[in-house]
Amino acid sequence: MKADYELLKLYAMKTIYYLFILYLVSMITTTGYATNKDQKMLIVYYSWSEGKNTETLAKYIQEQTGADLFRIEAVKPYPLDYNACVKAAKEDIEAGKKPAIKQHVSNIDQYDIIFVGTPNWWSTMAPPVLTFLSDCDLSGKTIIPFNTHGGGGAAHCFTDMEKVQPEAKFLKGLAVRGHKPQADIEASIRSGNSVDKWLKELGIITK
Ligand SMILES: Cc1cc2nc3c(=O)[nH]c(=O)nc-3n(C[C@H](O)[C@H](O)[C@H](O)COP(=O)(O)O)c2cc1C
Repeated sequence: MKADYELLKLYAMKTIYYLFILYLVSMITTTGYATNKDQKMLIVYYSWSEGKNTETLAKYIQEQTGADLFRIEAVKPYPLDYNACVKAAKEDIEAGKKPAIKQHVSNIDQYDIIFVGTPNWWSTMAPPVLTFLSDCDLSGKTIIPFNTHGGGGAAHCFTDMEKVQPEAKFLKGLAVRGHKPQADIEASIRSGNSVDKWLKELGIITK
C-alpha cells in the first residue's frame, strides 16, 4: 500500500515537472515580441515611391513587433514624376527645408521605443522625416532608425537623425535595399532573415 502511494507520488511529481518544462518551452516559442512588455513601441515612417519600400519594411517590423504604426505625409506631396521629385528633394535638402506634414503623433509621450524609417534621399532622410523629428522632443526615448535605398545604404540618414534628436538614445539602424515593385522588397524581406536578425540582436523580438 505504502509502495503504491510512493509510486503515485513519484508519477505526480514527474507530471508536474514535465508540465513545468512544457510551460517554459511554450513561453519561449510563442513569445515573439519584446521581452519587456512595459516598453511601448511606435513605428514612424515616410515612403514616397510606387515601390512602397519603406512602408513595406515598416509594416513588416510592425508584424514582428506589434508596435503601433504612423505614416508621415507631406501637406504638399513631392511630385509623382521621379526626376521632378529628385530635383525638388535636392532643393529642399540643400535649403534644410522642413516641409509641413499633415499630422503629428498626438500621444508620443506614451512611447518608449520609436522606430523611425525613411527612404535614402540624397544620402540623408527625406525632408518630411526631418520635419517630424524636428517637431517633437524625443529626449530620453530610444530611437531605432531604418531606411531603404537604391544602393547607397544608410549613408548619413541615421547620423543626421541623431543630430536632430541628440538627447535620444539611438540603437543600431538597419538599411535595406529597395526594389521597384512592392512585391519584390516584400519577398526579399520575407525570404532573408536580416530584419528578424536585427530585431533579435536589439532584443526587440525573442524568436
Ligand atoms: C528624391 C530621391 C533621392 C534619392 N536619393 C538616393 C540616394 O542618394 N542614394 C540611394 O541609395 N538611393 C536614393 N534614392 C532611392 C530611394 O532611396 C529608394 O528607391 C527607396 O527604397 C525608396 O523608398 P520608398 O519606396 O519608401 O519611397 C532616391 C530616391 C528619390 C526619390
